[in-house]
Amino acid sequence: MKEEKKTNNEPKTTKKATEESKKVLTLEEKIKVFEKRIKLAELGGGENKIKKQHESGKMTARERIDIFLDTGTFVEIDKLVVHKCTDFGMEKSKIPGDGIVAGYGKVDGRLVYVFAYDFTVFGGSLSRTNADKIIKLQKLALKNGAPIIGINDSGGARIQEGIGSLGGYADIFYNNTMASGVIPQLSAIMGPCAGGAVYSPALTDFVFMVKEKSYMFVTGPDVIKAVTHEDVTKEELGGAFTHNSKSGVAHFMGDNEETTLMMMRELLSFLPSNNMEDSPIRHCDDDIHREDEKLNTLIPEDPNKPYDIKELIYSVVDNGYFFEVSPHFAANIVIGYAWMGGRSVGIVANQPAVLAGVLDINASIKAARFIRFCDAFNIPIITLQDVPGFLPGTIQEHAGIIRNGAKLVFAYSEATVPKITLITRKSYGGAYCVMSSKHIGADVNLAYPSAEIAVMGPEGAVNILYRNVDAEEKAKILQDYKERFANPYQAAELGYIDEIILPKQTRLKLIQALEMTENKTVNNPPKKHGNIPL
Ligand code: HXC
Repeated sequence: MKEEKKTNNEPKTTKKATEESKKVLTLEEKIKVFEKRIKLAELGGGENKIKKQHESGKMTARERIDIFLDTGTFVEIDKLVVHKCTDFGMEKSKIPGDGIVAGYGKVDGRLVYVFAYDFTVFGGSLSRTNADKIIKLQKLALKNGAPIIGINDSGGARIQEGIGSLGGYADIFYNNTMASGVIPQLSAIMGPCAGGAVYSPALTDFVFMVKEKSYMFVTGPDVIKAVTHEDVTKEELGGAFTHNSKSGVAHFMGDNEETTLMMMRELLSFLPSNNMEDSPIRHCDDDIHREDEKLNTLIPEDPNKPYDIKELIYSVVDNGYFFEVSPHFAANIVIGYAWMGGRSVGIVANQPAVLAGVLDINASIKAARFIRFCDAFNIPIITLQDVPGFLPGTIQEHAGIIRNGAKLVFAYSEATVPKITLITRKSYGGAYCVMSSKHIGADVNLAYPSAEIAVMGPEGAVNILYRNVDAEEKAKILQDYKERFANPYQAAELGYIDEIILPKQTRLKLIQALEMTENKTVNNPPKKHGNIPL
């Protein structure tokens, strides 16, 4: 690291500003000084650094904010703040704004707060001043009840500032935690995000990454090589695809910065601005009585045959549009947002087309976090169930499927938003209980005539109860078990299923259930907080 590093921007700033402040200026001159200062702030690290940023295929912080917000709505704050570091000759290198562009504006006419790390200023590193700027914005967002969006592209803690920068990170984490469940918090990763810096995005509700342009890791490839002797590239270790498919840290991946920013705008449209608002409602031009004959034959007669649950989702939601969250991670469960009769809803669905829709650790965690987000922000949850059970095996047991599966039960049980469940086919054993059953607080439980709701699958049950009978006898018992138990009628007789419905009428039935539960009020026992099995 060179000492007294200069940029083509800031030494002029401080010197000129001092000279100008000594003169007695006319009003016109004062305005010129002001305009000059603003222009300098807007140049960030200067033209060369901006050029470098563009050459590396990235937009600047200002360009990103400009694309993200409704045109002309951005109001910038703290545009002229400067860092206070005096080590390493930093007192001679002050850039107005100091590496974070922050303020507020509108997305589809609704207020949001946004900050973007400016990589052209000391690699977007976090100074104490930058941290204070973010914290000011976090407090404003919390106080005024509007989402906050962070756009990350940073070399981490500003090395010259040391502990002041670290303290800034910790203060940001604290505010992320305080805002959690009160206002939606979104993070975009559009460049480097490493070390402890990853924990602010990780504390937010949704993480967006740009394909092949962004990475997140706690320790980089060089440290890994030194400690564990593993060879790994930045992309393999913490690139967008890795975090969207393997770790589940990120929820969305855009092909480029612009698409990523548009995805963030779209997600916001499904969310209320804060936890005191209802989930958004918009005009619905899709007939709520619309029937779909195709659904009557979607579920294969052979229970071992897969089908794509997304076909059912596309068929029943308004205008066939489903905004999927985490499509590349634990694809055996599908989560995402849609509009139903004009109301924003969260959908959780087992996916028979992937691993037969089995529940494993990743699927449980993916769904549980989504359910808790929906519950925090008053978004009704629709659950589509076709699940053979929890995934057996030592890998899952030793990695804690018990603890992790319990997260799903916990999330559904504590959720007080309207919960509507539809069983399309398999609903066996523990998975019946877990997937938003009546017993853990679902409001409306529906089933198709093809539903199989039983303590376990026919083969398993007969093998246990009739271990010693011959094959011919077993086949008869199996047939009898299927007829008696592999259906929705025992559950309907007990009132665990409220209604068995014709598949073609699914859209209407779900919307009716949503309308019926619109004013639902449930208060869980007062407590400091529950103890979800983390
Ligand atoms: C100060 C920094 C900086 C930093 C980069 N720069 N990181 N300045 N503090 N942390 C400066 C560089 O000196 C350079 O300045 C300019 O930003 C651009 O950096 P380049 O290296 O030229 O860019 P690039 O090749 O794209 O590489 C980007 C990078 C690399 C991968 C981020 O800069 C890098 O490895 N930086 C250090 C990362 C790091 O170790 N950070 C501290 C981690 S500790 P000039 O003037 O030459 O253009 C940490 C703890 C946080 O973050 C804990 C929170 C709890």
